[in-house]
Amino acid sequence: MRQFTVLGLETSCDETAASVVRGRAPGPGEVLSNIVLSQLEEHAPYGGVVPEIAARAHIEALDAIVERALCEAKISLQEVDAIAATAGPGLIGGVMVGLTTAKALALASNKPLIAVNHLEAHALTARLTDGVAFPFLLLLISGGHCQLLGVEGIGRFRLYGTTIDDAVGEAFDKTAKLMGLAYPGGPSVERLAKSGNAKRFALPRPLAGRAGADFSFSGLKTAVRQIVRGAEFSQDSKPDVAASFQSAVLDILTNRTRAAMAMFRRDCPQVQERVLVVAGGVAANSAIRSALSALSEEEGFQTKIPPPGLCTDNAAMIAWAGVERSQIGSFDSLGVAPKARWPLQDMPARGSLVSGTS
Ligand code: KG4
Ligand code: ZN
Repeated sequence: MRQFTVLGLETSCDETAASVVRGRAPGPGEVLSNIVLSQLEEHAPYGGVVPEIAARAHIEALDAIVERALCEAKISLQEVDAIAATAGPGLIGGVMVGLTTAKALALASNKPLIAVNHLEAHALTARLTDGVAFPFLLLLISGGHCQLLGVEGIGRFRLYGTTIDDAVGEAFDKTAKLMGLAYPGGPSVERLAKSGNAKRFALPRPLAGRAGADFSFSGLKTAVRQIVRGAEFSQDSKPDVAASFQSAVLDILTNRTRAAMAMFRRDCPQVQERVLVVAGGVAANSAIRSALSALSEEEGFQTKIPPPGLCTDNAAMIAWAGVERSQIGSFDSLGVAPKARWPLQDMPARGSLVSGTS
């Protein structure tokens, strides 16, 4: 099977990113360049991402970012095999900017276009970094998503659990905002939690221990709000709130993942080397990384977690999804539409290449 070299663009939230990746399934692949421009400073005054500001910033930055990605990869547009861009889910203005730019580049260079599902790209990153074989269990934890899925092939997912309210990254961001910490909340809460007492505040673990593998975080957020507005709270309590919150998140994530591991064992009894992949921005959290590694060890799974820079939004994962889709000839027409919503379980099932063990 030949190698593919793909230029990927990512603009679905507040990172403007372009990357060139080369490889073949099941990986690992080679990241030839990986440029990420964060818009953090533009959104920080608002305590969250402002869609209109994000779309404008993508327009201003993207051309130069693409040029840099090609230049660092020491490759011309003519030498890449395909152009991939996030086509959803995400903030629609940003997705339109990236996808339209990719269409223009594809048209001008006469290369195929690949409209990538951002969540599938997070899911496949562990193949780019570690060459993980299908099927594997995926815990996808980001600002917009919190799901447990069996990944059986390209575009083939089995949903084990999903959040019934907030995503876990959102819970981090809201907790941070309640305490007046810097945006984005995840890294701020993690930093503060290191010096806090996790036992000081008793917080709920919604749905933990219940049947199934669904998540819920809104009760946790409400409990944090009550503490922060309560009489006992002062500036000095912040590390203890952060630590107590993070410890509740750890318990919820490990409890739900353990339940999904049992489902994965039931559905894929033939798999000898079971792997848990953790992906999405929240997987950059080192306490979460070590709790999930310990859980995997107990349950007979290996853990594969991409390095933090490939867990948060980036274009290398988009380019890699493009490599995998190039390999099965899954290209898109220039008429493909951007999507604000695009759940993984709605992906068309493809993947003749990937039945079982590739
Ligand atoms: O995957 P991502 O970059 O964007 C989405 O697709 O949502 O994830 C961003 C989310 C944010 O909610 C951010 O607070 C969270 O990931 N995050 C973290 C950490 N780093 C980023 N959450 C907890 N601990 C971290 N170290
Ligand atoms: Zn993401």
